[in-house]
Amino acid sequence: MTVVGPFGLSVRDQALEADVQAGLAAVEEGLLEATKSEVPFITEAAQHLVRAGGKRFRPLLVMLAAQFGDPYAPGIVPSAVVVELTHLATLYHDDVMDEAEVRRGVDSANARWGNSVAVLTGDFLFARASHILADLGPEAVRIQAEAFERLVTGQILETAGPSDGRDEVEHYLDVLAGKTGSLIAVAGRFGAMMAGADEGTVDILTQYCERLGIAFQLADDVLDIASEGHESGKTPGTDLREGIPTLPVLRLREQAAASGSADDRELVELLGGDLTDDARLAHVLGRLRVHPALEQARRDTVRYAQDARTCLAPLPDCFAKSALEELCDAVVHRAG
Ligand code: IPE
Ligand code: IPE
Ligand code: MG
Ligand code: MG
Repeated sequence: MTVVGPFGLSVRDQALEADVQAGLAAVEEGLLEATKSEVPFITEAAQHLVRAGGKRFRPLLVMLAAQFGDPYAPGIVPSAVVVELTHLATLYHDDVMDEAEVRRGVDSANARWGNSVAVLTGDFLFARASHILADLGPEAVRIQAEAFERLVTGQILETAGPSDGRDEVEHYLDVLAGKTGSLIAVAGRFGAMMAGADEGTVDILTQYCERLGIAFQLADDVLDIASEGHESGKTPGTDLREGIPTLPVLRLREQAAASGSADDRELVELLGGDLTDDARLAHVLGRLRVHPALEQARRDTVRYAQDARTCLAPLPDCFAKSALEELCDAVVHRAG
């Protein structure tokens, strides 16, 4: 048994391990190649976060999904590069939106070079992703365009907040499916599709990845509160500081309304106020970390991950399927 990819995923088969490792190594090369510009400063800015690391979760999903067809088909590695480049571009933009200073354990691009450079570098990465995508055919272009529209819509809906009368938790889950589920679903879809898997298999892997993606983002939102150190390579409490009500906060509001506890009401009040002050943010984080609302959000996360696992049932038993099943636990219990 060998550990590959993020979250210490164990792979019980040498052939599968070799395929995944070779695929991920080729993706690394592809990423460095795709982020080279004749303008040295653009190369520096574009490679800044590539070189800083990251989990490469989406390329891993492409490689595992490709196991349900011909895992050596030529479109697999480029499609994984497209998905990771698109993800990377959204990180450059997201850090501007969230005024985040740290990403992948290094300065965010906006912290280092300012918002304009960060936004334009994100655009540059989208351009490079489109270039590679063009060679994968019109169907791939359409899939990516549709997912990208959903992703951006999710980001905008998060910023705008729920429309009047809309249930906040439903709104939040829609935002997650859009901003995160959409692109992670493309990873599964491209992997299976490029490998020539049959349509039913492509659909199953797409559905699985969409749900896994939602669980992955729910876990990210729990980690924003629960992680005390910097395993995530990001600054804990960023969502709270930005006033983004993630599931733990929404569950707290529900519990406060139901219990009428003065303590809970005070915490809700504090969360709605200005949290730009470090001491105040630390105080609120400390209280949320021990609140049952955080546990409730964790249980919701596990439910989504179990949902993802259920999608896999019709697939034939194989080592790749076991790895995908294991990922359902891994994304929920990850530390970073
Ligand atoms: C961060 O994604 C944004 C979310 C969807 C939570 P990742 O957690 O995959 O970030 P990297 O690629 O490992 O840095
Ligand atoms: C961002 O979600 C998702 C996308 C980049 C589309 P978050 O704002 O939670 O991501 P992090 O926590 O900054 O990585
Ligand atoms: Mg963010
Ligand atoms: Mg986050």
